[in-house]
Amino acid sequence: MIDIHTHILPYIDDGAKDADTAAAMLRMMMTQGVDVIGATPHYYCLDCTPAEHREHAEKAYGTLMRAARGEQVVPEIRIGAEIYLAESLQAVEHPELLKISGTDLMLFELPFTGFTRWIPAVTELVAAKAKGRPLFAHIDRYIRLYGRKVTDVLEELPGAAFQFNSDAFDDRAALKYMYSLINRGFTVFFASDCHGTHRRPPDLGEKLPGLEKKLTKKFSAEVYAEVMRRQYALLGLKTHSA
Ligand SMILES: [Fe+2]
Repeated sequence: MIDIHTHILPYIDDGAKDADTAAAMLRMMMTQGVDVIGATPHYYCLDCTPAEHREHAEKAYGTLMRAARGEQVVPEIRIGAEIYLAESLQAVEHPELLKISGTDLMLFELPFTGFTRWIPAVTELVAAKAKGRPLFAHIDRYIRLYGRKVTDVLEELPGAAFQFNSDAFDDRAALKYMYSLINRGFTVFFASDCHGTHRRPPDLGEKLPGLEKKLTKKFSAEVYAEVMRRQYALLGLKTHSA
């Protein structure tokens, strides 16, 4: 099971507040059967460069690993970023440092303040500069906000993939859109987008079996397996235990 979008790295954003919290989140994910974690702290281009962000993230990863020393099975952690889409992002050097490691995926967060024309243009430009592909974070939140007109535009971007948060697995509008994406061959990812052990905790392992049931009922067990296979393939992995 891949939890592609988390704020598990300590001391870096509004996620894990310290190393012990991060280690506790890691233990929760391990217990729930997560075997690959996207560690994606927020990136705001006005705050630091991609190189600085990467350095902070790697340092936080080291802190987490020290706190988790002694754990028998540690899931694979892929460092990346949740990249806030801003017009000035197009001027940033080395955006490739924001990709989820070992993948071409760039987890972009759309603004909630309105959808304007520069958004798809900047996404395409930055992704091309990084030789990456956009993965839109918690697309479920934008369905009601912006509607399908916007997602139609995002779908046109080369290699676009879409991520749904676990708290939307019962949301009818989100599910309808997820089904449509799967039907049309898009890759969808799932994530807890966890920020701590109590507030927004890791819960993908608890929620995914319910979604698996829905997808199996709507499509088939084979389609669900294919959804998972595509996720693992984009991470360069062949097999999965989900
Ligand atoms: Fe997030």
